[in-house]
Amino acid sequence: MAQTRLDKLLSERTPHSRAEIKKLLKNGAVLVDGTAERDGSRKVDPDTQTITCQGKAVRSSAHVYYLMNKPEGVICATEDREHRTVIDLVPQEMQVKGLFPAGRLDADSTGLVLLTDDGEISHRMLSPKSHVPKYYLIRLARPYEDSYAQTLADGITLSDGTACLPAQIMPLDVPGHYALICLHEGKYHQVKRMLAALGNHVEHLHRVCIGGMILPPELPLGGCLEVLHNDVERLLKVYDLAVLSAQIVSEFPSYSINDSL
Ligand code: URA
Repeated sequence: MAQTRLDKLLSERTPHSRAEIKKLLKNGAVLVDGTAERDGSRKVDPDTQTITCQGKAVRSSAHVYYLMNKPEGVICATEDREHRTVIDLVPQEMQVKGLFPAGRLDADSTGLVLLTDDGEISHRMLSPKSHVPKYYLIRLARPYEDSYAQTLADGITLSDGTACLPAQIMPLDVPGHYALICLHEGKYHQVKRMLAALGNHVEHLHRVCIGGMILPPELPLGGCLEVLHNDVERLLKVYDLAVLSAQIVSEFPSYSINDSL
């Protein structure tokens, strides 16, 4: 990154207002390579210099990427009058301007949501043309039937006539009626409507993976974890369904879905 004014950098990459930044600079709370810098007009390069504000590193990447394990009752929006949003759950020190959820999960669904301030990656991920696969761990009301896999692979038609792209599903080898389903598109309530069209009912839905990026099972519901831009590129890759299923089965007890179901 080219050199930029210290005060401008702080206003872009910390949650502080311009007035707060002035005060922090004046009080010696901003260090550049270990030395207090009080002049906001000083030119700095966050790629080559270590800049801290109140002891916290000011990130060098232009954008942030967080994985969140969304709990039930929280909505995927930036603000809402009635409900808590995923942005409300981001700890104060991780808040940045322009943070938004890239994609949606229903209020009663849980699991992986990417939060970012990077419109470009979000567009690449959500564009209908990119078909980034999304993987959901679902609990069914009735037993899984072997016929589901072929019906979904052929592309199921929903009760309102909506045609779905081919999808993959497999039962999970754990007690209860659990399955893992992979979709390459994101229509409204799609997983629930697909299973309804198969004559079953989704009791709970937990997104475990987007592209090649899996939700860390140890991340608690409501937890938020920063990942690097290079890792985020994995979003645009594909996770093998059978490999993912084996991983989920082996770590099933640690998946927080068990608390929320
Ligand atoms: N499909 C659904 O039905 N709900 C979600 O939250 C995501 C996919």
